[in-house]
Amino acid sequence: MKILIIGSGGREHALAWKLSLSPDVKKIFCAPGNGGIGLIAERVDINSEDVHGLLDFARKNSVDFTVVGPEAPLAAGLTDKFREEGLAVFGPSRAASRLESSKVFAKSLMRKYNIPTADFEIFEDYSRSLSYVREANRPLVIKADGLAAGKGVFVCNTLVEQELALKKIMNDKVFGAAGKQVLIEDKLEGEEASIMFLSDGDNSVALASSQDHKQVFDDDKGPNTGGMGAYSPAPLVDQKLFSEVKHRVIDPTLAGMNAEGTPYKGVIYAGIMVTPQGPKVLEFNVRFGDPEAQVILPRLQTDLARLIIKTEEGRLNEISPEWDDGSCVCVVLASAGYPDSYQKNILVSGLDKLRDRDDVLVFHSGTELKGNAFYTTGGRVMGITGLGKDIRQALEKTYSAVKEVNFEGIHFRRDIGAKALKYS
Ligand code: AMP
Ligand code: GLY
Repeated sequence: MKILIIGSGGREHALAWKLSLSPDVKKIFCAPGNGGIGLIAERVDINSEDVHGLLDFARKNSVDFTVVGPEAPLAAGLTDKFREEGLAVFGPSRAASRLESSKVFAKSLMRKYNIPTADFEIFEDYSRSLSYVREANRPLVIKADGLAAGKGVFVCNTLVEQELALKKIMNDKVFGAAGKQVLIEDKLEGEEASIMFLSDGDNSVALASSQDHKQVFDDDKGPNTGGMGAYSPAPLVDQKLFSEVKHRVIDPTLAGMNAEGTPYKGVIYAGIMVTPQGPKVLEFNVRFGDPEAQVILPRLQTDLARLIIKTEEGRLNEISPEWDDGSCVCVVLASAGYPDSYQKNILVSGLDKLRDRDDVLVFHSGTELKGNAFYTTGGRVMGITGLGKDIRQALEKTYSAVKEVNFEGIHFRRDIGAKALKYS
C-alpha cells in the first residue's frame, strides 16, 4: 500500500513512523514533510493546502490512501475533493471540520445538543463586545471564531486584558477574517485533558487519554502555544470520567453531527476541563493533537493503517485498539521567542547521541536537513518522546535525552508530566 501523509509537523512525523511499521505499507510520501520526516518518507514539494496539486499527485502516483494531519487542509475541503474523485482519505469533510474551524459553530452545536461547555456570547460588533466585558466584571476567555494556529484564545483575568484581546481581534484584526466573530466565554477552573475518539460516522472507538501543556513556560505561565509537551495516559482520566465524557460529550456530538446532515469521520478530539461540576468541553479538534499524537501513537499496539482504513470504510465496529500499559512523555524543544517571532536556520547538535537509544523517539516539527546536519525552520523544532513502564520512568528517559540535544536559543518546559506525578 502507498500512503500519502499531508502536513509537516511532529504529529505527521509520528504518523509516518507508526505507519512505516505496518506490514501492509510499502511506501510513504509526505507533503511537504520536514527534515526528520524525510528520513522515513519521500517528501513531496506541494503545500498542504494545495488541494488540486495533492489530488493530481495522488492520482499520478497511485496513492492508495491519504492521511491528513493538520486542520487547514480539512477546512479547505481536501477530503471532499478526494472522495468525489474516488480516492480513499482519512479525515472529516469540510462541513464536519467546522467543529474546529468555527468555534461559533462548535459552541452553537454544543448549546443545541446540551453538551456541557462554558457559557458564552457571540459578538461581531467591537463596541458591543467592549460593553459586555465592562459590565461582566469577571474572568473571561476571548476567542477568535476561526483557525488561528492555537493562538486565537486569550484567557483574561482582568478587564485590561479583556479589552486588549478584543482590540487585537476585532480592531487590529490580527487574525484577519478568522476574527470576524468573537466568542466570549466564562472562564472555567480545573485540570485539562485531551480525549480522542475515532469515528466512522456510525461507530466510534476510544483512543488513549493524554494531557497537553499549552502555555509556553513552566507552571502554565505565559501565552498559549500549539503545545509544549504531553503525556499519555492522563491519570486524571479515570474510568468514571472517561465514560462521562463518552456519554455526555462524544456520543451526543457525533449524533448531533449526524442529525445536522454532516456525519463525522476521522479523529474527534475533545479538549476537556475537569471542573467541580464535571467535565466541560473547551474545544473540539478534528484531527490528532500535536504533540498528543507523539505520546499516543507509540503506545498503540494495533496496526494504525488498519485502524485508519476501517474508519474510512465505516467498519470501526470490527476493531478495537490496544495500548501498551506503560506511559509516554513528549517534551517539545522550541526556538527562542516562540510563540512570537523566532530565528530560523540554526544548527541542531547532539541528535547522533540519541540514534542508538531504543527507548526514545525524536519527532521533528520544524527542521531541514542540509548535508548531514539538521537546521531549525520552525517555532517548535522537535519533540523528544520517551516510553517507560510508568510516568516516572518515561520522564527520566525523556529528560535524559533532552539534555543531549542543543541549538542556540533552545527553550523547553522542565515540568512536563509534573501534574501526572501526583497520582503515582
Ligand atoms: P482552545 O483552543 O479553545 O482549547 O483554548 C486553548 C486553551 O485556552 C485551552 O486549552 C485552555 O487552557 C484555555 N481555555 C479555553 N477556553 C477556556 C475556558 N472557557 N476557561 C478556561 N480556560 C480556557
Ligand atoms: N496540542 C493541541 C492541539 O493539537 O490543538
